[in-house]
Amino acid sequence: MLKIELATTQNKSPVYLHPGILKLTGQMLKRSFTPCPVLLVTDKNTWRYYGEICKRSLLEENYLPFVAVLEGGEKVKTLQSAYKLYGFALRKGLDRKSLVVALGGGVIGDLAGFVASTYMRGIPLVQVPTTLLAMVDSSVGGKVAVNHPLGKNIIGSFYQPARVLIDPGTLKTLPHREFSAGLAELIKYGIIMDRNFFLQFERLSNNKLIKLKNDQRLLKFLAKAVLLKGKVVTLDEKEEGLRKILNFGHTFAHALEAATSYTYYLHGEAVALGMIAATRLATRLKMIEEEAAGRILTLLSCLNPPPPPPDLTMGSVLDALQADKKKEGKELIFILPITIGRAVTYMAPPVEDVTAVINEYLSIPLKARKG
Ligand SMILES: NC(=O)c1ccc[n+]([C@@H]2O[C@H](COP(=O)([O-])OP(=O)(O)OC[C@H]3O[C@@H](n4cnc5c(N)ncnc54)[C@H](O)[C@@H]3O)[C@@H](O)[C@H]2O)c1
Repeated sequence: MLKIELATTQNKSPVYLHPGILKLTGQMLKRSFTPCPVLLVTDKNTWRYYGEICKRSLLEENYLPFVAVLEGGEKVKTLQSAYKLYGFALRKGLDRKSLVVALGGGVIGDLAGFVASTYMRGIPLVQVPTTLLAMVDSSVGGKVAVNHPLGKNIIGSFYQPARVLIDPGTLKTLPHREFSAGLAELIKYGIIMDRNFFLQFERLSNNKLIKLKNDQRLLKFLAKAVLLKGKVVTLDEKEEGLRKILNFGHTFAHALEAATSYTYYLHGEAVALGMIAATRLATRLKMIEEEAAGRILTLLSCLNPPPPPPDLTMGSVLDALQADKKKEGKELIFILPITIGRAVTYMAPPVEDVTAVINEYLSIPLKARKG
């Protein structure tokens, strides 16, 4: 069993990676928590595949799981859902010594994490991520949040999980499209902070990349990603400086998601497109050599991110960019690659360069989507 410990200001936040760890959930908790009531939050898909395994494992170790199965999808990541979960937990008698277990993708992790961070001023959170994106990104590092109608992840906090249990076996049932979206966040670490990691992905052809799902090497890739994210988070837990590089691709991504009302793209797909746009922007600004940029673009295009929907306009993307919550004052911030394995923060690039890269994307015909 692999263990990676994140030394954060809140706790040691250990991340365990092991095929089959899901059925050891109870045992993994018993090392630190005496048996207690558990709010087990999940969504319908995840519950169908993995709910009973997780619940049974908790019962075997004398925990008392109370299961909340939500619809799932971005639309449930709201204060209203959190409110319902608070009520459910109160009615079941959960107190400050109880636990929250988030079983599912980033939506469940962010929402259940937000509930754990606020219920009775905070009770321990255990993340059990079941999507690739959640395993390599959202479950690690302590960002928890719900959406507001005026913006994504607007209401939230930094709340480190007491445990993260990653079972790569759960990815077997993850649809290809979701897996591919998660690969974007995985590859991101190579582009922004580890050239060798990038080269490992580059060596896999398009075909092999998507087949990683059933490949033994996946465990190593997951561990490396957790290590890289952990390194950044421990140095800058509250995103005051260095952690911003993890937002590579996210300025454009959030704009694309907002401009399409969060219904067209998967988050990881928008991030892939955002990384493509940011790399093109870096090329226009002569921040990166064309050869390196070309290699980054080639690898990202293997993820086959979606073409723009027919009704997406330059105006709507620019409006969404202006509303970005990570703006500093009136200035837009982009994370741009300067070589393979390194990225920097770049403030206020010329508008004509930003519009040019958006235009490059908007001119892709809808039928360009493969598969
Ligand atoms: N907190 C952070 O640091 C952070 C970082 C990145 C993204 N996020 C957030 O994460 C969310 C996206 O997460 P996501 O991509 O995991 O989406 P998601 O949670 O919506 O999960 C995607 C889909 O996969 C299903 N699913 C989950 N596990 C499965 C499995 N093993 N087999 C089959 N189906 C399964 C879910 O039911 C859902 O339909 C967004 O809300 C985003 O804002 C947070």
